[in-house]
Amino acid sequence: MKILFVFLLLIIFAGCGQNNANQQLQVQVDSLQKKLNDIYKPGLGEFMLGIQLHHAKLWFAGTNQNWKLADFEVHEIGETLDDIKKYCTDRPEVKSIGVIDPAIKSINEAIKQKDIQSFKKGFIELTNNCNNCHKSNNHEFNVITIPNALPVVNQDFKPAK
Ligand code: HEC
Repeated sequence: MKILFVFLLLIIFAGCGQNNANQQLQVQVDSLQKKLNDIYKPGLGEFMLGIQLHHAKLWFAGTNQNWKLADFEVHEIGETLDDIKKYCTDRPEVKSIGVIDPAIKSINEAIKQKDIQSFKKGFIELTNNCNNCHKSNNHEFNVITIPNALPVVNQDFKPAK
């Protein structure tokens, strides 16, 4: 009888301990969730600013036939597009981001072939895609152009000697 009583007490204590551990875990999960909610994530507009700079650099890299830099810049655009898909899921506009994939593909091909005419053609196609998406998302006031001046003053776009 005594042994049974001790046994029951043990089970009850073990149960309480489990409950306590669960509560502590829940507190930790809640505080981690709160930290996650507060983490800074760049918005779509900030990613777009990055793309804008790479778009301009890509033009000068390609037209200077610095194919290695052009390849680098077009991949930077690709990586930013991947980030947009990952981090901007709350923006419905992002669903149509794939519209620029064919233009990116043409540019990649032109870079591989070192073909400046196809590069320019692909670049114009890309820029039209930027603007078409802006238009269809009520951002028609945001017009992207073929750059007419260097985007930065501290970078040489010609191939390295
Ligand atoms: C999927 C549609 C889509 C595509 C494709 C797209 N954009 Fe955008 N872009 C947007 C939207 C939506 C905004 C507004 C973002 C916001 O609300 O902050 C925007 C904003 C911008 C901005 C404004 C940032 C600022 O503060 O001036 C620039 C610059 C920009 N885009 C450049 C580009 C360039 C360059 C390309 C092509 C290489 C491009 N975008 C392709 C949808 C798109």
